[in-house]
Amino acid sequence: MQQTISFVLDDKIQTLLFDEVFGPTTTVLNFLRKSAEHKGVKEGCAEGDCGACTVVIGELNSDNKITYKAMDSCLVFLPMIHGKQLVTVENLKHKKGNQEILHPVQQEMVDCNGSQCGYCTPGIIMSMFSLYKNENKPTQESIDDALTGNLCRCTGYKSIVEAAAKACVYDGKDHFDENEKQIIDLLHQIKSESKSIEIDKKQKYFQPKTKAEAFELREKMQNSVLLSGATDVALRVTKRHEVLGEIIDLSNIEELKKCIITDYVIKFGAGMSLEEVKKISKSELPALYETLAVFGSRQIRTLATFGGNLGSGSPIGDTLPTLMAYDTELKLQSKDGDRIVKMNKFLLGYRQTERKPNEIITSVIINKPSVNTQVKFYKVSKRKDLDISTVSAGFSVTLEKNKVTAITLAFGGMAAITKCATEAEVFLMGSD
Ligand SMILES: Cc1cc2nc3c(=O)[nH]c(=O)nc-3n(C[C@H](O)[C@H](O)[C@H](O)COP(=O)(O)OP(=O)(O)OC[C@H]3O[C@@H](n4cnc5c(N)ncnc54)[C@H](O)[C@@H]3O)c2cc1C
Ligand code: FES
Ligand code: FES
Repeated sequence: MQQTISFVLDDKIQTLLFDEVFGPTTTVLNFLRKSAEHKGVKEGCAEGDCGACTVVIGELNSDNKITYKAMDSCLVFLPMIHGKQLVTVENLKHKKGNQEILHPVQQEMVDCNGSQCGYCTPGIIMSMFSLYKNENKPTQESIDDALTGNLCRCTGYKSIVEAAAKACVYDGKDHFDENEKQIIDLLHQIKSESKSIEIDKKQKYFQPKTKAEAFELREKMQNSVLLSGATDVALRVTKRHEVLGEIIDLSNIEELKKCIITDYVIKFGAGMSLEEVKKISKSELPALYETLAVFGSRQIRTLATFGGNLGSGSPIGDTLPTLMAYDTELKLQSKDGDRIVKMNKFLLGYRQTERKPNEIITSVIINKPSVNTQVKFYKVSKRKDLDISTVSAGFSVTLEKNKVTAITLAFGGMAAITKCATEAEVFLMGSD
């Protein structure tokens, strides 16, 4: 176990020992705002809505390269970036001799007159930087999606979108590539020395590396707060100013991030980000893809997980009606073993679920629908993007010889739990 965390910032390893200044639930935003060199990042809302706090996190991937992802730093607790690279807007320009050279995304923002105010622009630049590193010549849909999480009250989006399209044409090449080997070595250095994190002070914060460790911890601390992506939990700290006494952070357990696809079943690790789930579901589970296409923003989905959406048991959790419409099972695990619970038996009451206090949701298992089955998702919200549902619905209908032989009509936002309209289902069974 270790009591410190380490990450790469400004091309150097930074190691933090938690004290009175920085606790384990200090957000990356508040950490950066205390540093004179990183004041570009801003707090607009402290709840994941405005994107003014967007930073990019670089993570080692399975090809031994770095994947860059935009995130809202107001929702990320410091231990969640252990072993990763933190990239801020100050890192984007670089020096050649005495000359300061702007990053292509910054240069296009200047050339297209996209920069309007100093509050929103750094966050917009960071979302564009993540897009630049991940997509060459992105589609209009992808540019819009990448910028959905960045609000601008002066509404000058056209020039920003134009700048993104003009910048993202260099196959992600920039000065970060020249430096990549050095950063990879630093990340490996942190990784090779890394143990599970145990901060046992006024606030207790545990970040296990394996499921087995997490089950042991949960057995001992059944009232602790479980945390995966923190997009719900962080708001308890940033908006309600709660001091969370005991936290088990599941975000560093690789076993929870694996996906297994067979001919009949897709088994998602409960710790997979919803952005990853969205990518996989595009071809395999179109109704789930449609659900996630209007779920939060790219910054939110990059953090948020299946485990968190189900774990909160909210009646307006968007994945819940869709998972009920698909034939879904959840795997609940503890030190005592595991069990499978059907999705339609999981919710018991308002934010109450079938999960026992010592259990953790570890997998979401979706049985692929047959060719005769259609699954659809609908969401009603005040805005199309970045808004919670007023009402949501997941429907599935199986037709055989033009007759309904199976039907699910699941609704969110209509009752204390996501619920099926059972009388309507019975009425429609057997109809043409
Ligand atoms: C700006 C913004 C926009 C949002 N938009 C949407 C939206 O469009 N649709 C929607 O449905 N939600 C939305 N949310 C809510 C939130 O993002 C989702 O509920 C998300 O899926 C939570 O996942 P997480 O991993 O971040 O959960 P966390 O915050 O880490 O945890 C949420 C809850 O689940 C529990 N939990 C976490 N992991 C597990 C596990 N493996 N096993 C058991 N319990 C667990 C935690 O203890 C906690 O109670 C939004 C939130 C924000 C801030
Ligand atoms: S401050 Fe608004 S999204 Fe973080
Ligand atoms: S860029 Fe800040 S309000 Fe428009």
